[in-house]
Amino acid sequence: MPYQVCQLAAEVTPFAKTGGLGDVVSGLSGFLARDGHDVRIFLPFYAQIARRAEPFMPVDFVRDVPVAIGPRHYTFSLLTTPLPGSDVPVYFVDCPELFAHDGLYHGDWLDWLRFAVLTRAAFESCQRMGWGPDVVHCHDWHTALAPILLKALYGWDRLFDHTRSVLTIHNLAYQGYVPASVVSDLGLGSHVHWLDAADLATGRFNFLKTGILHADFLTAVSRTFAREIQTPEDGFGLDPLLRARGDRLVGIVNGVDYGEWDPETDPHLFYHYSAREPAGKWSCKRNLLRETGLDERTAAPLIGVVSRLTPQKGFDLCFEVLPELLARRDLRLVALGSGEKVYEDFFQGLQERFPGKAWFFKGFNNELAHRIEAGADLFLMPSKFEPCGLNQMYSLKYGTPPIVHKTGGLADTVELFDSATGQGTGFVFDHFVPVGLRWALDYALDTYLHRSTWEKLMANGMAQDFSWDKQGKEYVELYGRMVG
Ligand code: ADP
Ligand code: GLC
Repeated sequence: MPYQVCQLAAEVTPFAKTGGLGDVVSGLSGFLARDGHDVRIFLPFYAQIARRAEPFMPVDFVRDVPVAIGPRHYTFSLLTTPLPGSDVPVYFVDCPELFAHDGLYHGDWLDWLRFAVLTRAAFESCQRMGWGPDVVHCHDWHTALAPILLKALYGWDRLFDHTRSVLTIHNLAYQGYVPASVVSDLGLGSHVHWLDAADLATGRFNFLKTGILHADFLTAVSRTFAREIQTPEDGFGLDPLLRARGDRLVGIVNGVDYGEWDPETDPHLFYHYSAREPAGKWSCKRNLLRETGLDERTAAPLIGVVSRLTPQKGFDLCFEVLPELLARRDLRLVALGSGEKVYEDFFQGLQERFPGKAWFFKGFNNELAHRIEAGADLFLMPSKFEPCGLNQMYSLKYGTPPIVHKTGGLADTVELFDSATGQGTGFVFDHFVPVGLRWALDYALDTYLHRSTWEKLMANGMAQDFSWDKQGKEYVELYGRMVG
């Protein structure tokens, strides 16, 4: 049965992306449309989107719509263009006062207001379109108010009589904490007693927690992450609530958009290859070495990193391990990322200390990310925690075995290689300690020396299928349960 699905998110690739959230919202939506569902996405019209080449068409009947958040009055209009490669309409909430600035997140206290307006604007637009979706699918803290707003502010409208809500948790580390005084501006009326009283008593209001309390269903982006977040160690303070709602929480591993991430067709590569014809990978490696100013004739293994640089990603372990490894073994390192200064300085420092062996690019660069996936021999992702992770799945497809910590989605998608049996897809260490990472790196670099074993490992990874056509079915099943 086809469902009508309204996606609400702060990121949608290629329009707005800082990490995997954008990739997942667009990949899932593209799959749902191919599967016959009516899916529509709502996203802020950030300044960077306005600079893109697509024609953004005004939606005539959603123009200058007022939205009040307490004493603050805004008006928004809706613009639309299809998600590239699909006929999924993306609706952009154009409210220059809130969104016409550089960057997606400002980190100031007004972020909550921006995303509250996005959420309200989506419901207001649905009303004007006369579209009552079966499912409102919200993502992370930014749009986690949707379930309570649906009931409290729009519950009177028969249009939404059959609408159910699902919240996908991509990351529990960001919860959207705001002062409790904000609550009076949300217009919840008598529904205010649905909020967590203990939190409010401490003067705080938590967007994500509110979503977890009120969504009809919850998903986490991998099976292991769904289990982990119900434990005090990995629950970021929300584990008691997540346990209480455990019967409504489903772990679904993210899919990969192989239309975007396939070394056979990737437009960002100068050479192409596949499991059947892997030779082009070596040309990609030479090209990456040349591009980064490293000696392209080297036979040394090349380790790649593409990451947001936050404590989540586990590079603290590298402080001790990588300098020692670069001094002890013949290898090359190419890293791309930006984020917290301590990690940027660390990778910059490696480049200075090991010229010709280590190279770092500080920033966000999608083309380079693709070329690192293709040109590296190994992909390093030692995350302390990882709800799902997409890069390790991209690297499997690109014949670049990942080195990962056994956590969250990394545990669900990478299997430890066993050189005796030839089974497995990567190098997985169990405990988040330097000795664990050192073991995995040495095991990987030793395995690299055995050509035929290495080719088997690469082939195992390239044969994995994490496509949305496969993973997306689990969401359709869930929508069926919700609507059914
Ligand atoms: P997270 O969402 O926690 O950042 P994921 O592995 O799920 O981790 O997704 C990260 C996505 O962001 C991938 O598509 C990756 O290629 C991309 N990415 C991360 N950092 C950069 C960067 N500095 N430049 C380009 N792409 C990046
Ligand atoms: C988050 C997580 C990452 C996940 C991504 C998409 O940013 O950190 O593990 O893959 O969302 O779900």
